[in-house]
Amino acid sequence: NNMLSWQRTGFHFQPEKNWMNDPNGPMYYKGWYHFFYQYNPEGAIWGNRIVWGHAVSKDFLHWTHLPIAMNTDQWYDQNGVWSGSATILPDGQVILLYTGSSNESVQLQNLAYPANLSDPLLVEWVKHPGNPILTPPRGIGKKDFRDPTTAWRTSQGKWRITIGSKVNRTGIAFVYETEDFKTYELLPGVLHAVPKTGMWECVDFFPVSLSSQNGLDTSINGQGVKHVMKVSLDDDRHDYYAIGTYNETANTWTPDNPKIDLGIGIRYDYGVFYASKTFYDQNKMRRILWGWISESDSESADVMKGWASVQSVPRTLVLDHKTGSNLLQWPVEEIESLRIGSKEFNNVQVKTGSLIPLEVESASQVDIIAEFDIDKAALEAAQGTDEEFNCINSGGAAQRGSLGPFGLLVLADQSLSEQTSVHFYVSKARDGSLKTSFCTDQSRSSKASDVNKQIYGSFVPVLEGEKLSVRILVDHSIVEGFAQGGRTCITSRVYPTIAIYGNARVFMFNNATDANVMASVKIWQMNSTSIHPNSEDGNNS
Ligand code: FRU
Repeated sequence: NNMLSWQRTGFHFQPEKNWMNDPNGPMYYKGWYHFFYQYNPEGAIWGNRIVWGHAVSKDFLHWTHLPIAMNTDQWYDQNGVWSGSATILPDGQVILLYTGSSNESVQLQNLAYPANLSDPLLVEWVKHPGNPILTPPRGIGKKDFRDPTTAWRTSQGKWRITIGSKVNRTGIAFVYETEDFKTYELLPGVLHAVPKTGMWECVDFFPVSLSSQNGLDTSINGQGVKHVMKVSLDDDRHDYYAIGTYNETANTWTPDNPKIDLGIGIRYDYGVFYASKTFYDQNKMRRILWGWISESDSESADVMKGWASVQSVPRTLVLDHKTGSNLLQWPVEEIESLRIGSKEFNNVQVKTGSLIPLEVESASQVDIIAEFDIDKAALEAAQGTDEEFNCINSGGAAQRGSLGPFGLLVLADQSLSEQTSVHFYVSKARDGSLKTSFCTDQSRSSKASDVNKQIYGSFVPVLEGEKLSVRILVDHSIVEGFAQGGRTCITSRVYPTIAIYGNARVFMFNNATDANVMASVKIWQMNSTSIHPNSEDGNNS
């Protein structure tokens, strides 16, 4: 549908049409990044014929779409070829493990492998004749056993995987051990459990380095390593992670801080971001995170436009060595090759209550980096301001407080009848300590009424001497914000009707009542990775 085609993105992963959900089996193989995804070939809604779509790229930007990798052609996956992961073995074999929803809607784990390992595109896949390889353990619901992880190798040379489930309202992760990926042993106990978190979907489990910026192969363990666990909560549709310690012998993982446990602590993203999965990119020695970004409009709008969902720009993931208590997420460096013309606005005073247009034409596809310095005197003078502030409950960009909000308005039209705000808000406790919130306000993002207009946000750690900084990727109907180098991230889907193509602008604003801020902003136009349908931009060729 031409009317809504402007919502398609210029540099985010999307199939040509139809419904997409979770990222599946990402890997780097013989010079290609492989990406599989949950796909409904029959329409723009999630349905009973979910298969694995498949695409390859050299740079995460330009994709070649390949035939469906796995179809619903067996009794054990007749109701859906659901999510799973890839493992590349040291001898070069490639293993896919996935969940089949059977002809009776039982969740079963299955094994598949490439028909031809010498084909770098891995076009053809064979389902193991001995499938299914795992059925729900005794006492576990038939629909509560899905999404096997990438396997890791133990010190004994065996392989382990983990699979999410639940018992009553307690989310749990089972661990299985195997030598040949055909027969498995369920290890006693569980890797981890958290009461009241419900079903754990798409569990992810991987090591991060305490000293290096490089990513680690999934099988690395021991000194200098922490293990991250991630769960996608079926009930509240968010991805939570925690940093902790893996004990191979005891078959347990323990979070560093029991208060920041899975499902009750920190999230990868405080907007729309779900069913994510990482993989180790042995090409560039980094760990990369993919996440599914669903639509925030109505199902009928999706059916009308003929597609639904995008994937996040892949994010490089490292432990934040400065705080030690969170990860840093940052768009893969490849994305920077799409930057074309840039404009810089250095050391601009944004006075209390002011709004400053930034002269960039056509800001519907941009990469923005901004830094803010709050007036020191105002910071010091402030006393016990907004101690209870949090983005979601304390109002959006229009509300005024002593030390915030201030930030950027993107996908805004000239008259500001539409605008999406990405901003900071600083509050100061009576004991003098500062707390910084990072928020996205979608409440005025669109004239349309059938779209989500929530305010998103959370706190972001800001260390002594650091300026407030944000990176924002804007791509027609998606806005991804990364605060303080990626400590806190917010992704939103927004649907402006006027602030599109050449009409999209960027503004700076400061709605604090007591503090001026000094801002430096750099804005790049971004090239498209495919011809954008019906683009009115001059810069997309
Ligand atoms: C997560 C999920 C997975 C399942 C898949 C089905 O979004 O529900 O648990 O395998 O999607 O499409």
